[in-house]
Amino acid sequence: MANSAGRSRNSFFSLGTQAQLRAHETDPFTSFRAARLPRRRYLVTGCAGFIGSQLTQVLAASGCSVVGVDCFTDNYPRAVKEGNIHRSSVGADVEFHERDLADAALEQRLEGVSGVFHLAARPGVRTSWGATFEHYLRDNILVTQRVFEAAVKQGVKVVYASSSSVYGDAEAYPLREDAKPIPVSPYGVSKLSCEALATSYDRSLGLDSVGLRYFSVYGPRQRPDMAFSRVFDCIANDRPFRVHGNGRQSRDFTYVGDVVDATIAAMARGAAGGVYNIGGGSEISLLDSLTLCEQVAGRTLQVAHVAAATGDARRTVADYGKAATELGWSPRTTLEEGLRAQAREAPGLDSVDDPARPAQPLELLEPA
Ligand SMILES: NC(=O)c1ccc[n+]([C@@H]2O[C@H](COP(=O)([O-])OP(=O)(O)OC[C@H]3O[C@@H](n4cnc5c(N)ncnc54)[C@H](O)[C@@H]3O)[C@@H](O)[C@H]2O)c1
Repeated sequence: MANSAGRSRNSFFSLGTQAQLRAHETDPFTSFRAARLPRRRYLVTGCAGFIGSQLTQVLAASGCSVVGVDCFTDNYPRAVKEGNIHRSSVGADVEFHERDLADAALEQRLEGVSGVFHLAARPGVRTSWGATFEHYLRDNILVTQRVFEAAVKQGVKVVYASSSSVYGDAEAYPLREDAKPIPVSPYGVSKLSCEALATSYDRSLGLDSVGLRYFSVYGPRQRPDMAFSRVFDCIANDRPFRVHGNGRQSRDFTYVGDVVDATIAAMARGAAGGVYNIGGGSEISLLDSLTLCEQVAGRTLQVAHVAAATGDARRTVADYGKAATELGWSPRTTLEEGLRAQAREAPGLDSVDDPARPAQPLELLEPA
């Protein structure tokens, strides 16, 4: 049955006082996350991954019950993902199921669930060419279609991860959601296909879904294949970091804590069928971001220039005005603060100083 009632905005996120929020603090990462949630049950797919595990941790720390699904795909070591899910779920109400969403029965997982956060996917632009595109077809397009199918049957809302990669090399910046998407990688195509599927399921079957175009997410637990993880690894081990092209390509890096906030806000307030840019709010060239990494780590980085990578966009910078207006969300973490948080967790960088986080105003979610 289609969820016609669910097409109006949900209003189940309650206000918490500052004192209540502090009572839910579990570690420095969650200490300034804004939303205190009612004790409802949510499904998180990809819960052992970088963003999914941080989302799981914040939901659980906020008093929610989480059903997590992940199958430990081989894009990086299983042990890293097991560590992620362990850290997210210790002492919390998290029920983990190791299942491949491409063939597992999903209806049972959705029983009693108030919403689905669908983050499971095969990420990464550079590995999406050639024979490995098969993984992107399966883990992105097929899995998303199956999640939407099950969500329609159960009448639950889905917030799903899309990507800035859907834009490709755009004609105008900052990128707005109504810009024509021209992906320049098979990964971008797979994410755009998920958005198209959401539109089909919305129009034809009444799916209540919200898509979030995340822009270059970084922070603690970042995937080992991503830039800052590799940068800190190279600094710690005195190895050269390979810069593809001249290093002047720019990115709008987004702190994972801000991404988690946006994702929760989208469940609370995102309009059915809506797509939102979730970007960090500042653009920086790769070379300048490397200098910042050196400052944060207090050590120098060797750089080796190699040929530009196929499928990398020249520039990404988000206009997040729609998310600000409709979700009540905006990024709050500067790149330097976020890099410090990531560097503190990076192996071999024990000397990173730990200045007290500057006081952050708490932006409480108002019931919509
Ligand atoms: N990290 C970023 O900068 C970024 C940017 C834009 C979009 N995204 C999107 O955000 C989401 C999370 O990305 P991430 O960086 O945390 O990646 P990640 O690889 O750390 O997490 C994805 C998780 O999904 C799981 N998974 C994949 N296929 C599965 C399947 N068939 N069944 C069950 N589990 C499966 C993987 O095992 C993994 O743990 C993805 O949808 C990604 O495309 C990420």
